[in-house]
Amino acid sequence: MRFDILTIFPRTFESYLNESIIKRAHKKKLIKIKIHDIRKFSKDKHKKVDDVPYGGGAGMVMTPQPLHDAIKYARRYNKGPVIFLTPDGNTFTQIKAEKMAKKSGMIFICGRYEGIDQRIRDTLIDEEISIGNYVLTGGELPAMVLLDSISRLIPGVLGKEQSHEQDSFSKALDRKKEYPHYTRPAEFKGMKVPKVLVSGHHKNIAAWRKSKLK
Ligand code: ADE
Repeated sequence: MRFDILTIFPRTFESYLNESIIKRAHKKKLIKIKIHDIRKFSKDKHKKVDDVPYGGGAGMVMTPQPLHDAIKYARRYNKGPVIFLTPDGNTFTQIKAEKMAKKSGMIFICGRYEGIDQRIRDTLIDEEISIGNYVLTGGELPAMVLLDSISRLIPGVLGKEQSHEQDSFSKALDRKKEYPHYTRPAEFKGMKVPKVLVSGHHKNIAAWRKSKLK
C-alpha cells in the first residue's frame, strides 16, 4: 500500500511515522509513505499557497495551482483515490478502513486555513472524509488517523495476523465492543483477575468473553 500525503506542514508527520508499528511496516515494505510539501509546487515567487477568499470573509483559502501540481505529481506514482480530509466529508469508520485497506494506494490532501479552492474539490478529489464532528486546525492529524487505522489492517503489519479481527467495531464482531483485557499481576491493589481467565479452560474463557461484549 502506498500513501502519498500532501501537506504544507510535512514535519508534523516525522515523529509519528518514525515510531513503532508504522515504522516497522515501512521498513518491511508493507507500506510506503511519501510526504509532499505543497509549498514546493507553488509557482509564486514567494512560494505562497493561500489567498483571500473571493466575495470576502474571514480566513485564507488554499490556492488551486500548488495543489493541482502536487496532486498531478503524486498521481504519477499512486493510482489510488485522492482523498481530501475535511470536517464536512463522509465520516470515517472501521468498515471504511477495511474497504480502503484493500486498495493499492491513496493520496491524502491535508487542508489548512478556511479550506481549499472549490475547483480542486470539484475536479481532482475522489472522496472527502471527516474523522468526526469537530473542527481541527488542519487535515494532518486526520491523515495520520486514516494512515494508522488502514495500515494496521494490512496483512503482516500487526504481529499476529488475526489480532485486528476482533477489534471493536470491526465487521467480524458485528460492531460490538471488545471484551475486557487483563495481564499480570493476578492481583493489583486488591483487585483480582476474573477466575475463569486463569482457569486454562478455553471454552469457558470464550463464553465469558462473549458475555462481556457490550
Ligand atoms: N480538518 C479539520 N477538521 C477535520 C476533521 N474533523 N476531519 C477531517 N479533516 C479535518
